[in-house]
Amino acid sequence: MIPSAALLAVGAFLGAIPAASAECTREGLLAAASSYVAAITAGKTDGLKLSTTDFTYQENNKKADITKGVLTKALKIDLNRSTADTVACASYTMIISSTGSKPYVLATQIRHADNDTSTISMIDIIAATTGSLFFNAPKTLGYIQKEDWTTLDVTNRPSRALLKQVGDAYLDMWTDAKAADTIPWGTNCERVEGSSLTKPCGASLPHGGSAKNNGNRRYVIDETVGSVDVLCSFDSLGNLPDSHEIRVEGGKVKYVHTITV
Ligand SMILES: *[C@@H]1O[C@H](CO)[C@@H](O)[C@H](O)[C@H]1NC(C)=O
Ligand SMILES: *[C@@H]1O[C@H](CO)[C@@H](O)[C@H](O)[C@H]1NC(C)=O
Repeated sequence: MIPSAALLAVGAFLGAIPAASAECTREGLLAAASSYVAAITAGKTDGLKLSTTDFTYQENNKKADITKGVLTKALKIDLNRSTADTVACASYTMIISSTGSKPYVLATQIRHADNDTSTISMIDIIAATTGSLFFNAPKTLGYIQKEDWTTLDVTNRPSRALLKQVGDAYLDMWTDAKAADTIPWGTNCERVEGSSLTKPCGASLPHGGSAKNNGNRRYVIDETVGSVDVLCSFDSLGNLPDSHEIRVEGGKVKYVHTITV
C-alpha cells in the first residue's frame, strides 16, 4: 500500500512541471543560431547557452573540445544563412568566411533537447578550409550570393517527407544505380560542390559503383524554404566529413550545395 499522502505529493510534483517548453519555435531556433553566428565572429563561446548536463560538440564528425576548434578563430563572416526545423528542434547555418587570414566554409547543425531552444545540446560542424574538396571560398561565395533563398509560397513548398526522400536519394546515388532517376531535377537547377558549379545540376551524376553507404546522416529540414541539409560521413568515397543541402521549389530540385572535408 502506498500511503495516500505520498500519492498526493507525486501529484503535486507532476502538476508543477511547466508545459511551456513543449513547443519548439522557429524564433527560438533562429535566436540560438544567431548566438552561434555571433560566437563564430567573436571567436568566443561565452555567449552560447550550452547545456551544462548534456552538451556535445562535434567538428568534422569527431567529438571535440569546443574551446579548441573553429569557434576560437574569430572569423570575418561574408555570408550566413540559416534554416529551422521545428520537428527535430534543430537549425542549420551555412557560413562563408572568404576574406579572413584563413578562409572557411562551415555547415553547422545546432540541436536542442526536449524542445527547449533556450539551451543548446549539440553543435555539429563540418568545417571546410584550404585543402578541402574543390575549396575556394571567394568563388563559392560568388555563386551562393546570387541564389534566391526567399521563403516559398505555401503552394510551392515541398513536404517534409519529400525533402527527406530527396536528401537520402542524393546520398544514395553512389551506391544505388537507380537513385539518381528518383530525384525530381529542376531544369534550371544549380549544384555548387565546394567551388565547382554544375548547371543543370542533374548532369553527370553517379549511378552506383560503391559498396559503402554514406552513413551517419543527420537531418535539418525546413519546408518554408524547401531545404534539407544532411550532415554525413561520405563513406562511399572514403570516410569524408560532408554536408549536402538541397533546395526544392515547386516539387523540383533548385540548388545543391556540397561541403566536403
Ligand atoms: C516539439 O515541438 C514540435 C513543434 O512544435 C512538435 O511537433 C513536437 O511534437 C514537440 N516534441 C516534443 C517531444 O514535445
Ligand atoms: C545571417 O545574416 C543575415 C544578414 O544577411 C542576418 O539578417 C541573419 O539574421 C543572420 N543570422 C543567422 C542566424 O543566419
